[in-house]
Amino acid sequence: MMRIRSLALAALVPLLVAAATARAQSYTLRSPDGRTTLVLALTDTRLTWAVSRDGAPVVTPSRLGFTFRGAPRFETGLQLADSARSSADETFTLPLGEVARVRDRHNELRVRVVETAAPHRELWVVARAFDDGIGFRYEIPDQPNLRDFEIMDELTEFSMAEDMKAWWIPANISTPDRQEMLWSSGPVSKLDLVQTPLTLVGTGGLHAVIHEANLVDYAGMALQGRSESRTLRATLARWKDGSAVKGRTPFVTPWRTLQLADRAEDLTPSVLGLKLNPPNRIADTRWIRPMKYNGIWWGMHVNTMTWGSGPLHGATTANTRRYLDFAAANGLGGTLVEGWNIGWDKDWMRYGDEFSFTTAYPDYDLPGVAAYARQKGVSLIVHNETGTFVDNYDRQLDSAFALYQRLGVTAIKTGYVGDTINPGGHAHQGQYMVRHHRRVIETAASRGLGVVMHEPIKDTGERRTWPNMLSREGARGQEYNAWGGEGGNPPEHETILFFTRLLSGPMDFTPGIFNLLITRSGTNVPRTPTEARPRTTLAKQLALYVVLHSPVQMAADLIENYEGQPGFQFIRDVAVDWDTTRVLHGRIGDDVIVARKTKGRDEWFVGAITDEAARTIEVTLDFLPKGRPYVAEVYADGKGASWRDNPLALSISRQPVNAATRLRIAMAPGGGQAIRLRPAR
Ligand code: NOJ
Repeated sequence: MMRIRSLALAALVPLLVAAATARAQSYTLRSPDGRTTLVLALTDTRLTWAVSRDGAPVVTPSRLGFTFRGAPRFETGLQLADSARSSADETFTLPLGEVARVRDRHNELRVRVVETAAPHRELWVVARAFDDGIGFRYEIPDQPNLRDFEIMDELTEFSMAEDMKAWWIPANISTPDRQEMLWSSGPVSKLDLVQTPLTLVGTGGLHAVIHEANLVDYAGMALQGRSESRTLRATLARWKDGSAVKGRTPFVTPWRTLQLADRAEDLTPSVLGLKLNPPNRIADTRWIRPMKYNGIWWGMHVNTMTWGSGPLHGATTANTRRYLDFAAANGLGGTLVEGWNIGWDKDWMRYGDEFSFTTAYPDYDLPGVAAYARQKGVSLIVHNETGTFVDNYDRQLDSAFALYQRLGVTAIKTGYVGDTINPGGHAHQGQYMVRHHRRVIETAASRGLGVVMHEPIKDTGERRTWPNMLSREGARGQEYNAWGGEGGNPPEHETILFFTRLLSGPMDFTPGIFNLLITRSGTNVPRTPTEARPRTTLAKQLALYVVLHSPVQMAADLIENYEGQPGFQFIRDVAVDWDTTRVLHGRIGDDVIVARKTKGRDEWFVGAITDEAARTIEVTLDFLPKGRPYVAEVYADGKGASWRDNPLALSISRQPVNAATRLRIAMAPGGGQAIRLRPAR
């Protein structure tokens, strides 16, 4: 226990240790600004937590505890024993991200909870209160009656004081849980099983986000609603054998977090989860490169190339050189190549254990291509699709990553597409997969590789500890707009993503499709508006680079579709790593306008997007330094633009601006605006 405590308390200033308060019935913890209060209390020998903000309840007393395999539940017959308090105020830097510096100012309360009767087990509930929310976790010390254990259920509940409006996607604990569904909204009392982050909006405007932080060796949490109840129960993804978490004391769980904001605009930048992860473990981060990249990728999704061998094989040496040349000529930092390795030719979702991560197809000269990339100063991003055959990947991790390092590769993209209950029958968001992803991130760090994960484990802030964890999917991305049928993303999609999934961390959405009127396979006939195709205008594709943060941002279209396109200049110019981020305007599901300052440069970008409705919104550029002249390079929806029948109309203009300028941002249906602000010369 001392080991865990000293870890958790490192860099904190202990203020008070009150021992022998065995009869205390509740403990109160306040945020530094005094607005948020968390109460840990004992009611009828059961432990509860509750949160209020400005005196009004947000979470009413909600239960805590566990059930174990082969041991009594830890829920009743409890007593509050020792407690300790501390505070911290420190600032840390992010080598890459939506902000450069994070201030972690919090108060902490630790309470020891003991069973009054046999088996006399104990644990600590540790809570931290920040100005932007709270987090708490369980710490289970080593003890004679609790050593090796299996958690069957975590009993943590979130009983919302108000039947808030939830923005949700379903969670499915037993089948591949890629979190790639379309978002819905509705009251908490109507929710079934949903994913986190779960964004909740109260009638008075309060925004609350339930999520988790520092998921290291535990099962991912979803939230189970109950009909006509405002209570959500933590529900853990499972191992094949039915248990949720296997562990040995001393043990700490992830943090359960509740982010709080007065307005949608104040939810971002969200760094609550980062504050609850351990500091950076990579001493020298200079090799970790934020970058824009292109790739042999979209062609497979729109059926002009194949992953597998054959006449349309995308990952040939010649094609890869073309993409590398284009990247080098246009200031992109990397080129992703998918389908380079053997294993794609059968039904790979069923035969994914035949993937090799070191052997290339004969028409792909991996060492030659890697040398060419080095010579061009472009990172080769090596793709590793596992088909969720995780053991096959694990067996090859060391040799594959060693090879990539030898070849000078600096980033990989992993993938976990699977169609059945995989991997090995364990849940996609379960402890088995959490452990696997950690192994991948840490092995990659030791080999100088950044990681972009698709079908990932959810983001719980690992990037603070492992900044080589660059970005991930974990939501419905652009690829859905490629697949034909009716499954594309609706125009509102990204205006929801920003206030939900993106609160957990960067997303590899893959923006930048210029050929928006995709033709039907094998024809020259453009798809109709009801068929899948990006339901955005060209200006909105550009704005997504600013709105949907990722330190690796793809120029996703086929490179030939960028030839001769004036709008491509914005992709060349836009930054991917930021000093600061400010949300100028936002309504979930309607529109968002974000301003971000380029890392280390006197330059800002503004991204504005709308849903299917045309909107004009005025914003003040008061984030610019006062009295200095800037030039706004504006990429706006052109006359008559609309995602439906005129998505390509783009108007590019320049205008002088300064901190006092009020800018009218006009957006077409499904449109947006992308702006670069640079000092006037
Ligand atoms: C799904 C990923 O999201 C996509 O980017 C990738 O191309 C395919 N799987 C194949 O691995």
